[in-house]
Amino acid sequence: MGFPSIAILGTGSYTPARIMTNDDLSKIVETSDEWIFTRTGIRERRIAAADEATSDLAAAAARKALADAGLEASQIDLLIVATVTPDLPMPATACIVQKKLGVPAHAACFDLNAACSGFIFALDTAWAMLSSGRYRHALIVGAEKLSSVLDWTDRTTCVLFGDAAGAVVLGPSRSPGSQILGAKLYTEGGYTDLLCIPGGGCLHPGPDAPPKVIQMKGREIFKVAVREMEDAARDILEQHGLHADQISCVIPHQANLRIIEAIAQYLELPMDRFFINLERYGNTSAASIPLAIDEARRSGRIQPGQVSLLVAFGAGLTYGSALVRW
Ligand code: UT7
Repeated sequence: MGFPSIAILGTGSYTPARIMTNDDLSKIVETSDEWIFTRTGIRERRIAAADEATSDLAAAAARKALADAGLEASQIDLLIVATVTPDLPMPATACIVQKKLGVPAHAACFDLNAACSGFIFALDTAWAMLSSGRYRHALIVGAEKLSSVLDWTDRTTCVLFGDAAGAVVLGPSRSPGSQILGAKLYTEGGYTDLLCIPGGGCLHPGPDAPPKVIQMKGREIFKVAVREMEDAARDILEQHGLHADQISCVIPHQANLRIIEAIAQYLELPMDRFFINLERYGNTSAASIPLAIDEARRSGRIQPGQVSLLVAFGAGLTYGSALVRW
Protein backbone atom coordinates (compact mmCIF):
# COMPACT_ATOMS: atom_id res chain seq x y z
CA MET A 1 0.00 0.00 0.00
CA GLY A 2 1.37 3.43 -0.96
CA PHE A 3 1.57 6.40 1.34
CA PRO A 4 -1.64 8.45 1.58
CA SER A 5 -1.82 11.95 0.08
CA ILE A 6 -2.25 14.41 2.94
CA ALA A 7 -4.48 17.45 2.57
CA ILE A 8 -5.84 20.33 4.62
CA LEU A 9 -9.37 19.12 5.50
CA GLY A 10 -10.54 22.15 7.49
CA THR A 11 -9.45 25.56 8.75
CA GLY A 12 -10.44 27.86 11.62
CA SER A 13 -9.31 31.00 13.35
CA TYR A 14 -10.00 33.10 16.40
CA THR A 15 -9.14 36.70 17.18
CA PRO A 16 -9.79 38.38 20.53
CA ALA A 17 -12.62 40.92 20.64
CA ARG A 18 -10.59 43.95 21.76
CA ILE A 19 -9.30 46.11 18.91
CA MET A 20 -6.34 48.42 19.54
CA THR A 21 -5.96 51.02 16.78
CA ASN A 22 -2.85 53.00 15.86
CA ASP A 23 -4.53 56.05 17.41
CA ASP A 24 -4.96 54.11 20.68
CA LEU A 25 -1.22 53.35 20.59
CA SER A 26 -0.34 56.98 20.02
CA LYS A 27 -1.78 57.65 23.50
CA ILE A 28 0.68 55.16 25.05
CA VAL A 29 3.92 55.81 23.09
CA GLU A 30 5.20 58.60 20.88
CA THR A 31 3.92 57.40 17.51
CA SER A 32 1.17 58.10 14.99
CA ASP A 33 -1.24 56.29 12.69
CA GLU A 34 0.59 57.92 9.80
CA TRP A 35 4.02 56.51 10.85
CA ILE A 36 2.77 53.01 11.64
CA PHE A 37 0.62 52.70 8.51
CA THR A 38 3.22 54.06 6.09
CA ARG A 39 6.08 51.98 7.51
CA THR A 40 4.16 48.73 8.07
CA GLY A 41 0.66 48.73 6.55
CA ILE A 42 -0.86 48.03 9.97
CA ARG A 43 -3.98 49.94 11.11
CA GLU A 44 -5.05 47.93 14.15
CA ARG A 45 -4.40 44.73 16.08
CA ARG A 46 -6.31 42.49 18.53
CA ILE A 47 -5.42 42.26 22.20
CA ALA A 48 -6.47 39.24 24.30
CA ALA A 49 -8.25 39.76 27.61
CA ALA A 50 -6.24 39.39 30.82
CA ASP A 51 -7.87 36.01 31.51
CA GLU A 52 -7.51 34.77 27.93
CA ALA A 53 -4.45 32.53 27.52
CA THR A 54 -2.76 31.29 24.35
CA SER A 55 -4.44 27.90 24.94
CA ASP A 56 -7.88 29.61 24.90
CA LEU A 57 -7.16 31.29 21.57
CA ALA A 58 -5.77 28.00 20.23
CA ALA A 59 -8.75 25.93 21.40
CA ALA A 60 -11.25 28.39 19.88
CA ALA A 61 -9.51 28.29 16.48
CA ALA A 62 -9.12 24.50 16.67
CA ARG A 63 -12.83 23.92 17.36
CA LYS A 64 -13.71 25.84 14.19
CA ALA A 65 -11.16 23.90 12.14
CA LEU A 66 -12.55 20.59 13.44
CA ALA A 67 -16.12 21.66 12.59
CA ASP A 68 -14.98 22.74 9.12
CA ALA A 69 -13.33 19.35 8.58
CA GLY A 70 -16.38 17.52 9.93
CA LEU A 71 -14.28 15.74 12.53
CA GLU A 72 -14.53 15.27 16.30
CA ALA A 73 -11.65 15.94 18.69
CA SER A 74 -11.74 12.19 19.45
CA GLN A 75 -10.50 11.51 15.90
CA ILE A 76 -7.30 13.57 16.33
CA ASP A 77 -4.12 11.63 17.09
CA LEU A 78 -1.56 14.41 16.60
CA LEU A 79 -1.81 17.96 17.98
CA ILE A 80 0.95 20.52 17.46
CA VAL A 81 0.77 24.05 18.84
CA ALA A 82 3.26 26.45 17.26
CA THR A 83 3.84 29.33 19.66
CA VAL A 84 6.44 31.56 21.32
CA THR A 85 3.96 32.57 24.02
CA PRO A 86 3.08 29.31 25.78
CA ASP A 87 0.68 29.46 28.74
CA LEU A 88 3.49 28.09 30.94
CA PRO A 89 7.15 27.07 30.44
CA MET A 90 5.95 23.55 31.27
CA PRO A 91 3.86 21.61 30.34
CA ALA A 92 3.40 22.27 26.64
CA THR A 93 0.42 24.43 25.67
CA ALA A 94 -0.61 21.55 23.38
CA CYS A 95 -1.34 19.45 26.50
CA ILE A 96 -3.61 22.21 27.84
CA VAL A 97 -5.34 22.52 24.46
CA GLN A 98 -5.74 18.72 24.36
CA LYS A 99 -7.63 18.86 27.65
CA LYS A 100 -9.81 21.80 26.53
CA LEU A 101 -10.78 20.04 23.28
CA GLY A 102 -11.04 16.47 24.54
CA VAL A 103 -8.35 15.06 22.24
CA PRO A 104 -7.76 11.43 23.36
CA ALA A 105 -4.82 10.20 25.42
CA HIS A 106 -3.32 8.15 22.59
CA ALA A 107 -2.60 11.40 20.69
CA ALA A 108 0.88 12.93 20.49
CA CYS A 109 0.56 16.55 21.66
CA PHE A 110 3.51 18.92 21.72
CA ASP A 111 4.57 22.53 21.16
CA LEU A 112 6.90 23.74 18.44
CA ASN A 113 8.88 26.96 18.59
CA ALA A 114 9.99 28.32 15.24
CA ALA A 115 8.61 31.81 15.97
CA CYS A 116 6.81 33.36 12.98
CA SER A 117 7.75 30.36 10.79
CA GLY A 118 6.17 28.04 13.39
CA PHE A 119 3.10 27.18 11.36
CA ILE A 120 5.11 26.06 8.31
CA PHE A 121 7.49 24.07 10.54
CA ALA A 122 4.48 22.39 12.21
CA LEU A 123 2.80 21.73 8.85
CA ASP A 124 5.89 19.98 7.50
CA THR A 125 6.34 17.99 10.73
CA ALA A 126 2.71 16.83 10.77
CA TRP A 127 2.76 16.11 7.04
CA ALA A 128 5.77 13.82 7.50
CA MET A 129 4.17 12.06 10.48
CA LEU A 130 0.87 11.53 8.66
CA SER A 131 2.56 10.45 5.43
CA SER A 132 4.27 7.64 7.33
CA GLY A 133 0.84 6.17 7.95
CA ARG A 134 1.43 6.08 11.72
CA TYR A 135 -0.93 9.03 12.44
CA ARG A 136 -4.24 9.73 10.71
CA HIS A 137 -5.60 13.16 11.64
CA ALA A 138 -3.53 16.11 12.85
CA LEU A 139 -4.57 19.41 14.32
CA ILE A 140 -2.00 22.15 13.79
CA VAL A 141 -2.50 25.40 15.60
CA GLY A 142 -0.53 28.65 15.48
CA ALA A 143 -1.49 30.69 18.53
CA GLU A 144 0.06 33.73 20.18
CA LYS A 145 -0.63 36.14 22.99
CA LEU A 146 2.20 38.46 21.96
CA SER A 147 0.71 41.32 23.97
CA SER A 148 2.08 39.47 27.03
CA VAL A 149 5.70 39.78 25.81
CA LEU A 150 5.70 43.37 24.53
CA ASP A 151 7.47 46.32 26.08
CA TRP A 152 4.61 48.83 25.97
CA THR A 153 7.11 51.69 26.34
CA ASP A 154 9.11 50.67 23.23
CA ARG A 155 7.53 52.19 20.12
CA THR A 156 9.87 50.27 17.83
CA THR A 157 8.25 46.94 18.75
CA CYS A 158 4.89 47.38 20.50
CA VAL A 159 3.20 48.85 17.42
CA LEU A 160 3.94 45.78 15.29
CA PHE A 161 2.39 42.78 17.02
CA GLY A 162 -1.01 41.38 17.97
CA ASP A 163 -2.81 38.34 19.43
CA ALA A 164 -4.60 35.62 17.40
CA ALA A 165 -4.87 31.93 16.60
CA GLY A 166 -5.35 29.93 13.43
CA ALA A 167 -5.72 26.17 12.98
CA VAL A 168 -5.87 23.54 10.27
CA VAL A 169 -6.83 19.88 10.30
CA LEU A 170 -4.67 17.58 8.20
CA GLY A 171 -5.63 14.11 7.08
CA PRO A 172 -5.94 11.73 4.13
CA SER A 173 -7.06 13.66 1.05
CA ARG A 174 -10.77 13.48 0.24
CA SER A 175 -10.69 14.78 -3.31
CA PRO A 176 -8.32 13.97 -6.18
CA GLY A 177 -5.41 16.38 -6.39
CA SER A 178 -6.11 18.15 -3.12
CA GLN A 179 -2.92 17.73 -1.08
CA ILE A 180 0.18 19.27 0.40
CA LEU A 181 2.67 19.29 -2.45
CA GLY A 182 5.83 20.26 -0.63
CA ALA A 183 7.50 22.14 2.18
CA LYS A 184 11.01 23.44 2.81
CA LEU A 185 12.43 24.61 6.12
CA TYR A 186 15.55 26.70 6.80
CA THR A 187 17.37 28.00 9.88
CA GLU A 188 20.16 30.54 10.27
CA GLY A 189 21.19 30.38 13.93
CA GLY A 190 23.84 33.05 13.35
CA TYR A 191 21.09 35.65 13.57
CA THR A 192 19.63 34.82 16.99
CA ASP A 193 20.40 38.31 18.30
CA LEU A 194 18.30 40.12 15.65
CA LEU A 195 14.99 39.15 17.22
CA CYS A 196 14.65 37.59 20.66
CA ILE A 197 13.04 37.60 24.09
CA PRO A 198 16.19 37.79 26.24
CA GLY A 199 14.58 37.11 29.63
CA GLY A 200 12.57 34.21 31.00
CA GLY A 201 14.98 31.39 30.05
CA CYS A 202 17.69 29.54 32.00
CA LEU A 203 20.47 31.67 30.48
CA HIS A 204 19.70 34.66 32.69
CA PRO A 205 18.10 33.52 35.96
CA GLY A 206 17.76 35.65 39.05
CA PRO A 207 16.87 39.23 39.85
CA ASP A 208 19.19 40.77 37.23
CA ALA A 209 17.55 38.86 34.37
CA PRO A 210 16.79 40.92 31.28
CA PRO A 211 13.09 41.60 30.66
CA LYS A 212 10.84 38.96 29.13
CA VAL A 213 9.86 41.16 26.19
CA ILE A 214 10.52 41.16 22.45
CA GLN A 215 13.71 42.95 21.39
CA MET A 216 14.38 43.48 17.72
CA LYS A 217 16.82 45.05 15.27
CA GLY A 218 14.09 45.98 12.83
CA ARG A 219 16.07 47.38 9.95
CA GLU A 220 18.52 44.43 9.84
CA ILE A 221 15.66 41.91 10.03
CA PHE A 222 13.87 43.64 7.19
CA LYS A 223 16.73 43.05 4.76
CA VAL A 224 17.34 39.44 5.80
CA ALA A 225 13.59 38.69 5.76
CA VAL A 226 13.18 39.79 2.16
CA ARG A 227 16.14 37.73 1.02
CA GLU A 228 15.07 34.64 3.01
CA MET A 229 11.44 34.71 1.90
CA GLU A 230 12.40 35.19 -1.72
CA ASP A 231 14.88 32.26 -1.52
CA ALA A 232 12.32 30.03 0.20
CA ALA A 233 9.69 30.85 -2.43
CA ARG A 234 12.04 30.38 -5.39
CA ASP A 235 13.49 27.09 -4.06
CA ILE A 236 10.17 25.38 -3.59
CA LEU A 237 8.77 26.58 -6.91
CA GLU A 238 11.87 25.33 -8.68
CA GLN A 239 11.76 22.02 -6.84
CA HIS A 240 8.21 21.45 -8.11
CA GLY A 241 8.80 22.76 -11.61
CA LEU A 242 6.40 25.66 -11.10
CA HIS A 243 6.63 29.28 -12.16
CA ALA A 244 5.48 31.96 -9.72
CA ASP A 245 2.79 32.90 -12.21
CA GLN A 246 1.11 29.51 -11.67
CA ILE A 247 0.41 30.34 -8.03
CA SER A 248 -3.08 31.76 -7.65
CA CYS A 249 -2.66 32.91 -4.06
CA VAL A 250 0.50 33.56 -2.06
CA ILE A 251 -0.05 33.58 1.69
CA PRO A 252 2.97 35.30 3.24
CA HIS A 253 3.75 35.83 6.90
CA GLN A 254 2.03 39.11 7.74
CA ALA A 255 4.82 41.19 9.29
CA ASN A 256 5.16 44.28 7.14
CA LEU A 257 3.46 45.29 3.89
CA ARG A 258 6.75 46.69 2.57
CA ILE A 259 8.40 43.27 3.00
CA ILE A 260 5.54 41.65 1.05
CA GLU A 261 5.77 44.32 -1.66
CA ALA A 262 9.50 43.69 -2.03
CA ILE A 263 8.92 39.94 -2.42
CA ALA A 264 6.16 40.55 -4.98
CA GLN A 265 8.58 42.69 -6.94
CA TYR A 266 11.39 40.11 -6.85
CA LEU A 267 9.03 37.27 -7.83
CA GLU A 268 7.52 39.54 -10.51
CA LEU A 269 4.01 38.93 -9.24
CA PRO A 270 1.27 41.55 -8.93
CA MET A 271 0.23 42.43 -5.37
CA ASP A 272 -3.28 41.07 -5.95
CA ARG A 273 -1.80 37.55 -5.94
CA PHE A 274 -0.93 38.04 -2.25
CA PHE A 275 -3.50 37.59 0.50
CA ILE A 276 -2.98 40.37 3.01
CA ASN A 277 -4.82 40.99 6.28
CA LEU A 278 -2.08 42.60 8.37
CA GLU A 279 -3.81 45.98 8.39
CA ARG A 280 -6.34 44.44 10.82
CA TYR A 281 -4.13 42.17 12.93
CA GLY A 282 -0.49 43.26 12.75
CA ASN A 283 2.14 40.55 13.11
CA THR A 284 0.67 37.59 15.01
CA SER A 285 3.76 35.37 14.63
CA ALA A 286 2.85 31.66 14.38
CA ALA A 287 -0.86 32.55 14.04
CA SER A 288 -0.29 34.80 11.03
CA ILE A 289 -0.38 32.24 8.19
CA PRO A 290 -3.18 29.96 9.48
CA LEU A 291 -5.32 33.04 10.26
CA ALA A 292 -4.72 34.31 6.72
CA ILE A 293 -5.43 30.86 5.22
CA ASP A 294 -8.75 30.69 7.07
CA GLU A 295 -9.80 34.19 6.00
CA ALA A 296 -8.71 33.55 2.41
CA ARG A 297 -10.71 30.31 2.25
CA ARG A 298 -13.82 31.73 3.88
CA SER A 299 -13.79 34.81 1.62
CA GLY A 300 -13.55 32.64 -1.51
CA ARG A 301 -10.04 33.87 -2.33
CA ILE A 302 -8.87 30.24 -2.37
CA GLN A 303 -10.75 27.79 -4.60
CA PRO A 304 -10.53 23.98 -4.96
CA GLY A 305 -7.82 22.90 -7.40
CA GLN A 306 -5.77 26.08 -7.00
CA VAL A 307 -2.20 26.06 -5.68
CA SER A 308 -1.17 28.34 -2.79
CA LEU A 309 2.35 29.23 -1.77
CA LEU A 310 2.92 29.78 1.96
CA VAL A 311 6.09 31.62 2.93
CA ALA A 312 7.34 32.84 6.31
CA PHE A 313 10.34 34.09 8.26
CA GLY A 314 10.84 34.61 11.96
CA ALA A 315 13.13 34.66 14.97
CA GLY A 316 15.91 32.10 14.88
CA LEU A 317 16.20 33.14 12.20
CA THR A 318 13.89 30.53 10.73
CA TYR A 319 12.21 30.61 7.36
CA GLY A 320 10.28 28.27 5.15
CA SER A 321 7.78 27.70 2.40
CA ALA A 322 5.04 25.24 1.50
CA LEU A 323 2.90 24.46 -1.54
CA VAL A 324 -0.69 23.39 -1.01
CA ARG A 325 -3.19 22.31 -3.66
CA TRP A 326 -6.76 22.87 -2.40
O1 UT7 B 1 8.14 38.50 12.32
C1 UT7 B 1 9.35 39.19 12.28
C2 UT7 B 1 9.17 40.49 13.02
N1 UT7 B 1 10.03 41.55 12.66
C3 UT7 B 1 9.82 42.35 11.62
O2 UT7 B 1 8.98 42.16 10.80
C4 UT7 B 1 10.70 43.56 11.53
C5 UT7 B 1 11.04 43.96 10.16
N2 UT7 B 1 11.38 45.37 10.15
C6 UT7 B 1 10.42 46.31 9.96
O3 UT7 B 1 9.27 45.97 9.76
C7 UT7 B 1 10.85 47.74 9.94
O4 UT7 B 1 12.24 47.82 10.04
C8 UT7 B 1 10.20 48.56 11.11
C9 UT7 B 1 8.71 48.74 10.81
C10 UT7 B 1 10.40 47.84 12.42
C11 UT7 B 1 10.83 49.93 11.18
O5 UT7 B 1 10.72 50.61 9.94
P1 UT7 B 1 12.01 51.35 9.32
O6 UT7 B 1 11.54 52.00 8.09
O7 UT7 B 1 13.09 50.31 9.21
O8 UT7 B 1 12.31 52.45 10.40
P2 UT7 B 1 13.64 52.65 11.27
O9 UT7 B 1 13.80 51.56 12.26
O10 UT7 B 1 14.76 52.91 10.34
O11 UT7 B 1 13.26 53.98 12.05
C12 UT7 B 1 13.06 55.23 11.37
C13 UT7 B 1 12.73 56.28 12.39
C14 UT7 B 1 13.67 56.30 13.58
O12 UT7 B 1 13.90 57.65 13.94
P3 UT7 B 1 15.24 58.39 13.48
O13 UT7 B 1 16.38 57.58 14.02
O14 UT7 B 1 15.19 58.42 11.99
O15 UT7 B 1 15.08 59.72 14.11
C15 UT7 B 1 12.88 55.64 14.68
O16 UT7 B 1 13.24 56.08 15.96
O17 UT7 B 1 11.43 56.06 12.93
C16 UT7 B 1 11.50 56.09 14.35
N3 UT7 B 1 10.47 55.17 14.87
C17 UT7 B 1 9.20 55.55 15.10
N4 UT7 B 1 8.56 56.73 14.95
C18 UT7 B 1 7.25 56.77 15.23
C19 UT7 B 1 10.60 53.85 15.17
N5 UT7 B 1 9.41 53.36 15.58
C20 UT7 B 1 8.53 54.40 15.55
C21 UT7 B 1 7.15 54.52 15.85
N6 UT7 B 1 6.56 55.72 15.67
N7 UT7 B 1 6.42 53.46 16.26
